[in-house]
Amino acid sequence: MIIAIDGPAASGKGTLARRLAAHFGLPHLDTGLLYRAVGAQCLADGRLGDEAASVAVAEDLDVRTLDPEALRTAAIGEAASVVAARPGVRAALLDLQRRFAAQPGGAVLDGRDIGTVICPDAPAKLFVTASPEVRAERRYKELIGRGEPARFEDVLADIRIRDARDSGRASAPLAMAEDAALLDTTQLGIEEAFAAALALVDSATSRHP
Ligand code: CDP
Repeated sequence: MIIAIDGPAASGKGTLARRLAAHFGLPHLDTGLLYRAVGAQCLADGRLGDEAASVAVAEDLDVRTLDPEALRTAAIGEAASVVAARPGVRAALLDLQRRFAAQPGGAVLDGRDIGTVICPDAPAKLFVTASPEVRAERRYKELIGRGEPARFEDVLADIRIRDARDSGRASAPLAMAEDAALLDTTQLGIEEAFAAALALVDSATSRHP
């Protein structure tokens, strides 16, 4: 079974993807980490503005060396969203994601274009969202918890900029697949959101076994 989970920054999709993967005993790929790794390398090389360089980084990406903790900073999230708007970068990361999804038994993938581009035939698709203010609050707490200095107003502004860039780009924009189930977590805690996600996945897979 393939479970495709998409949604904007800090919507809770990563937590839900991990919980669903553990529940169903499936491997999980946080596809944001791939774009973060490319963005981080371009930042380190001082070549974030160089499209060809970012495509070369994406083509050479070795997923075994990804360090999720180091890639979670706000600056790297911003760089990820810049390189993710480039069609060559997305093309370079496509096969890797499709191979992950095609594992025997299935997989859970979360990102921005899993239900629309990477796994359009996934039997279970969720689009997880929440208000920008609630997402900014969650991201702010996460950054502070990691010891990263942050101001709520800056985090909210960053979320709005990223939403606009991710939804407005020409190449695989953030969009809800027509056959995805919408899960708005604005009013939900983690346990409630997980219960709702599980119910949506169960109902989708009973319709498309
Ligand atoms: O959790 P958060 O949204 O902050 O970050 P993420 O999911 O790690 O994604 C970082 C950036 O990568 C996003 O803003 C997107 O621009 C990009 N991304 C994408 O374009 N497609 C994906 N499948 C996953 C991430």
